Amino acid sequence: MDLKITGGTVVTASETFRADLAVDRGRIVDIGRRITAPADRTIPAKGCYLLPGAIDVHTHLDMPFGGTTSADDFETGTRAAAFGGTTCLIDFAIQSKGQSLTAAVETWRRKAEGKACIDYGFHVAVTEATDQVIDELADLVRLGVTSFKVFLAYKGALMIDDGSFFKILRRARQVRALTMLHAENGDIIDVLVSEARAAKLKEPIYHALTRPEECEAEATARAIRLAEMAQAPLYVVHLSCFGALEEVKFARDAGLPILAETCLQYLLLDIERYREPRFGGAKYVMSPPLRHKSNWPVLWDALAGGDLQVVSTDHCPFNFKGQKDLGKKDFAAIPNGAPGIENRLQLIFHEGVNKKRISLNRMVDLLATSPARIFGLAPRKGSLAIGADADVVVFDPKAPFTISARSNHMNVDYTPYEGFKGRGRVVTVLSRGKVIVDGRKFLGLPGAGQFIKRKRFSQ
Ligand code: URP
Ligand code: ZN
Ligand code: ZN
Repeated sequence: MDLKITGGTVVTASETFRADLAVDRGRIVDIGRRITAPADRTIPAKGCYLLPGAIDVHTHLDMPFGGTTSADDFETGTRAAAFGGTTCLIDFAIQSKGQSLTAAVETWRRKAEGKACIDYGFHVAVTEATDQVIDELADLVRLGVTSFKVFLAYKGALMIDDGSFFKILRRARQVRALTMLHAENGDIIDVLVSEARAAKLKEPIYHALTRPEECEAEATARAIRLAEMAQAPLYVVHLSCFGALEEVKFARDAGLPILAETCLQYLLLDIERYREPRFGGAKYVMSPPLRHKSNWPVLWDALAGGDLQVVSTDHCPFNFKGQKDLGKKDFAAIPNGAPGIENRLQLIFHEGVNKKRISLNRMVDLLATSPARIFGLAPRKGSLAIGADADVVVFDPKAPFTISARSNHMNVDYTPYEGFKGRGRVVTVLSRGKVIVDGRKFLGLPGAGQFIKRKRFSQ
C-alpha cells in the first residue's frame, strides 16, 4: 500500500465518521476504523477532517477577454486551486468567431497540457451556432466534453440569440449533454450601458447599475421556458440574486430539470464594494455584478435547502494594475472577472459551516459530490469511496486563517477577500494518491494533471 491517512474524520455528502483511509496506485483502497496493514507512508490526521478533493466547475484560465487575458494560466491557476483544496476543475474552452468547437477544445488542451497540476476537464462556450457547429456537439460528447455554455449577455462578443440557444438546447438533449447558461439580458444591458456612457458616467459602480437584477431574472425565466420547449436540462451558472432564484425554484417545483450554481462572491460581497475609492471598485467588476446584501441569506438558504446545487468560483482574475485599469476612464472597458479559485473551501467552511448556514455534509455535497455527479466525473471524483481517485484533502477545522493577496498563490495582485478571517485550513492535499500540498509546500508538478473524459449527463 502506498499511503495511509490515520486518525481523521471522514466526511462525505451524507456521513461523518472516524476512519483511516488507505491509498494504493492512485485510488482509495480501504476506509476503515483502524487500518493496520503497512503502508510506505503514513499521514497522521488526528483532529482533522478528510474531505474529497473539491471540484471547481467554473473557471477561466488563460482566457482572452475584454482586450486582455486572465492572469492565471493552467500552471499558476491549478497550483493555487490545489492550495485551496481543489483537485479537479472544469474550464471553459471559448469558441472564437469562425472556429469549430473541436478546434476550441484543442486550443484549450494546448493551454493545459504540460501545465496543469491537478486534473481538469472542459466545457465549450458556443459563441456562433451554425448548423455545422450544432452537428459538432455530438463529436464533443464523444471526446468527453459533455457540457456547453451559452451567453445571453456580452452583446457583440460572446452573446448568442435565442434561436441559436434553442438549437443548442435541443441538440444537447439528444446527445445527453448539459447546457449551461449565463443569464443576463444582453440587449437591455447594451441600452443601459450606452445611456450611461452618453451621460459621461465612468465609475465602476455603473457596471452594477447597468446590469440590474431584473436583467438576470428575465434571462433566467426566458431560458427556462426555452429549455422546457426543447425538453432539455439546463444549468444556470453564477446565479446572483433573489429574482433569478425564484425562477429556478418555480421551475424545479414544477419538476423541470433545472440546476443552478452560485459563486463565493455572491454570498460574501455586496454592491457597495463598487464604491471603493481610487478606482478600487474595479476589483469587483464581474458579470453578473455583486448585488445588494439582502440576497446573501436567500442564496445561503437555497444552498442549504437544495434549490442551488453547487458553489463554484467563476475564477477569472485580472490584475488591478495593468488590466482592470483598462477601464479607468470607462467602466464598460474594465475586464469582467475576479479571482477566487484558492479561497473557496476555507470561506465556505467558515462562513457556511462554522456560522451554521449549511452542514458540513452539505458543504461536501456542494463543493465536490454534486459537481462530480452533475458534470459526469462521478464515481471517480467527488466522494471518498473505495475505488475512487485518491483526491483527498486533510482539513484542520480549528486552524485560523486570514486571507491576503500576499500569502495567496494566485497570479494576481489582489484578492476580493483581503482581510477575511476565519477557522479552517487545508493541511495536506492528495491528487490521485500523490501528496501535492504539504502544509505550505507545493509538491505537485506542472503537467501531472490529466484531462478527464467526462460522462454524458444523466439526472
Ligand atoms: O465576469 C465574469 N463572470 N467573467 C467571466 C466570464 C463569465 O461570464 O463567466
Ligand atoms: Zn458567465
Ligand atoms: Zn464564468
